[in-house]
Amino acid sequence: MVTLEQMRASNARIPECLPAGLVAVFVGGTSGIGEATMKELAKHAVQPRIYFLGRSERAAVRITNELAAINPGGQYHFLQADLSLLQTVDEVCYELKGHEGVINLLFLTAGTMVTGKETPEHLYYPTALNYYSRIRLIVNLLPLLQKAPFLRRVVTVFGGTKEGAVSVGDLQGRSLGLPLSSRTCPPTPPASTSSPPRPTPSPTSTGTSPLNNPKHHASHLAHLRAHTASMTTLALESLALEAPDVSFVHTFPGFVRSTHVGRELRKGGKAAKAAAAAASGGNGGVGLMRSMLNKMVSSTSGSSASVVSSLAEAGERQLFVATSGRFPARSRGWGGRNNSTGGMSTASTATGNSVLSAGGNGTAGVVLVEGSGVNVARGSDARQGSGVYSVGLDAEAKGEEAVRRLREEDLVRRVWLHTIGEFLRVTGTEFV
Ligand SMILES: NC(=O)c1ccc[n+]([C@@H]2O[C@H](COP(=O)([O-])OP(=O)(O)OC[C@H]3O[C@@H](n4cnc5c(N)ncnc54)[C@H](OP(=O)(O)O)[C@@H]3O)[C@@H](O)[C@H]2O)c1
Repeated sequence: MVTLEQMRASNARIPECLPAGLVAVFVGGTSGIGEATMKELAKHAVQPRIYFLGRSERAAVRITNELAAINPGGQYHFLQADLSLLQTVDEVCYELKGHEGVINLLFLTAGTMVTGKETPEHLYYPTALNYYSRIRLIVNLLPLLQKAPFLRRVVTVFGGTKEGAVSVGDLQGRSLGLPLSSRTCPPTPPASTSSPPRPTPSPTSTGTSPLNNPKHHASHLAHLRAHTASMTTLALESLALEAPDVSFVHTFPGFVRSTHVGRELRKGGKAAKAAAAAASGGNGGVGLMRSMLNKMVSSTSGSSASVVSSLAEAGERQLFVATSGRFPARSRGWGGRNNSTGGMSTASTATGNSVLSAGGNGTAGVVLVEGSGVNVARGSDARQGSGVYSVGLDAEAKGEEAVRRLREEDLVRRVWLHTIGEFLRVTGTEFV
């Protein structure tokens, strides 16, 4: 485990370890954890160029002013987009490629807890935003990440270490956790360019959606999170095969005082309101989030979820994940090494500190300091420094056994084929 103090110490070394002009893209930077991490990066990076994506122009104006006040030497650009649509994701990627030739950091937080509706592209809305859209962004921007001369990293903030069962017959996750009697979702068709629209969970014989029942809704969210967390880690493993020179981290941020998800949940129609009311006991905002998340975590992992951190702390923790040499890319050759430093050599910084060198070209990020107690992390395949990491708020891996079982079921390949199939169906291309 990495303590908050160790994370802060690493973040403080960003100016000496990462060159000026770092390019970062924050997908979901208009609130919550994305906004907080972006501000932490602006605090520490030298002349960063930061792009942030979301729908809210009002939030973007406020945040741009705040970023400029934090670091006047940086450049900050907002790109407005509804990222639940893959066609829009492609347009944003074209725009980014028009501005930048390399990207050092792709940081993904755009997400929702709204359930029970689908996008015009016939994807289940929460899965479109939490999974398909994020993976599409990674695939499209991978060549720019691979060209970065230092720090090549993707961080997706969702359910790292919370991987669970994958429902092969319902990969979009429309009916997960709902009573069998209400499941109308047909099996996901094999990858093809012509899969038909699929219905959302249908009304029962009494005329109400099962999602109107708070118990079913909480169960749906819990199963959907475990399923989507697994899909995410498995997809990152496929992407790392394609790009072994980029590191991929899937994190669970802990419970963060971010009222935006709660607000959206309350806006999300009758079903969401019913679940929200039941979960929050009327105290809204943080109470709602904590209560919902407690239900979700305890129902999937049996653990209690009482720790709630501030947004500022979440930003510090996630900035560590986004920049530390603890998470090197696979091609750096750590895989299979079993010593605590991942086989790194010792070097000195400009300030004379003894550091663990990340193998020469510095693409691993902020180099680790020998004796600091922070070492190269175990990857999702349980091997140290293997390039794909699934970690909790303490930057520690946990779910390797669950992921190993999924891998043995050939789900890395099956999930990837499904994902590409949906990309082809919706956009006609595997990437742009
Ligand atoms: N907060 C927690 O305690 C917690 C715990 C575990 C996991 N997580 C996960 O961590 C991620 C980030 O959480 P958060 O608390 O930072 O959430 P948040 O405050 O709600 O931020 C979500 C971001 O996604 C953007 N977004 C939502 N729908 C969008 C759409 N259709 N198109 C474009 N952008 C959209 C929002 O921007 P606009 O509104 O401007 O579009 C916002 O910037 C989520 O996946 C969440 O499930 C959070």
